[in-house]
Amino acid sequence: MVGGGTGSFFASYHRAAMRLSGRWDLVAGAFSSDMARSVASGSALGVAPDRVYRDADALAEGEAGRPDGARTVAVVTPNALHFEQCKVSLERGLNVICDKPLVNELEEAWTLHELAKRKGVFFGVTFTYPGYPMVREARSRIARGDLGRIKFAYAEYLQEWVAEDPRNLGAKGGSWRSDPNVAGPTGTMADVGTHAQSVLEFLLGTPIEAVSARLSTSTGRAIDDRAILMLRFSEGTEGLIWADQALPGHRNGLRVKVAGETATLEWRQEAPETLWIGTLGGADQILHRGQKDMAPEAMSYVTFPAGVPEGYLEALGILYADFADAVETPDQPGPFEVPDIVYGLRGVALCEAALTSNGKGGAWTPVGIGNRNGTA
Ligand SMILES: NC(=O)c1ccc[n+]([C@@H]2O[C@H](COP(=O)([O-])OP(=O)(O)OC[C@H]3O[C@@H](n4cnc5c(N)ncnc54)[C@H](O)[C@@H]3O)[C@@H](O)[C@H]2O)c1
Repeated sequence: MVGGGTGSFFASYHRAAMRLSGRWDLVAGAFSSDMARSVASGSALGVAPDRVYRDADALAEGEAGRPDGARTVAVVTPNALHFEQCKVSLERGLNVICDKPLVNELEEAWTLHELAKRKGVFFGVTFTYPGYPMVREARSRIARGDLGRIKFAYAEYLQEWVAEDPRNLGAKGGSWRSDPNVAGPTGTMADVGTHAQSVLEFLLGTPIEAVSARLSTSTGRAIDDRAILMLRFSEGTEGLIWADQALPGHRNGLRVKVAGETATLEWRQEAPETLWIGTLGGADQILHRGQKDMAPEAMSYVTFPAGVPEGYLEALGILYADFADAVETPDQPGPFEVPDIVYGLRGVALCEAALTSNGKGGAWTPVGIGNRNGTA
């Protein structure tokens, strides 16, 4: 693991998800930019002292040189550090699991993509939400045509923490997320807008092709805290993303809605155990995780019986199990797409296209990643 020292936010969820999946052991780390803190963190996490490293480069070198060395590196540091830390890991032939947003520049994303391909290793990106069983259920129902032809797809990701002064929130991530030198050229767009994108693209099985965007701030911070995106998918499907992190009264309000010719479905992260389906002229349905009417492939990701709550950690655990499968049996893909470097690339491409569109007064802008130099 790179990052995730004492006092960090998200890495402890990665470690819990690794344990839930039962497929990973944490054996080495460069947990902090400060070696003393890294050593203390390693000791608290039960990592052998000789496997606590000064940085990602030393970790990759040290582990690649051991017969029992780590095969995969999880990168859980602030965004601006991802590129170099992923790159040195890939160069040593290690698989990589990186947190979102993948990197801050599309060129960097392409470099990682090509390096992973050349080295023949797996590169996962922890877009958590496709890990939820009821998101998988929604994907199965859309894919088998339950909604008819898809007409519209909508996602909102609404939070309130930026409405307070984020520097006073205590957590380290509160301040770097408002600093464009670390967070990247977009703020809320990259931080949660890309989550909304990943769920929509997972559900529809098709990427966003073009965007008309407005990025703004309602708090005066240096990067956007609001992103409003009109979307075009392939085959005429239209969509919207509304991401806002300065909206009082909202905590982790990810909500997605997909509308087809005959029915609409909706899933909410704050009520993740159910899926709502409204049919044209008929009664609504509320589907529950773990009930027999789930699609068999989605049901296979259910851990607890219906009514015993599952949530965020289980979803991340499912993702870590998918990552383990992708590393161990790459020629046997599972029933659902695993968020990989292409998801990461698309996230960076949407941020970049949204910035371009915003700079041109909301002009429609392609979001292609078909080749390194341009649009698909
Ligand atoms: N998938 C999700 O839903 C999700 C949720 C939260 C955060 N994240 C992502 O996780 C990443 C980390 O976010 P966070 O909130 O945990 O940040 P954080 O600031 O709380 O933690 C970052 C960690 O990186 C360490 N670090 C900093 N520089 C380092 C270096 N040079 N070498 C090694 N370690 C170093 C810090 O000491 C700290 O332990 C971000 O990219 C963020 O976007 C993803």
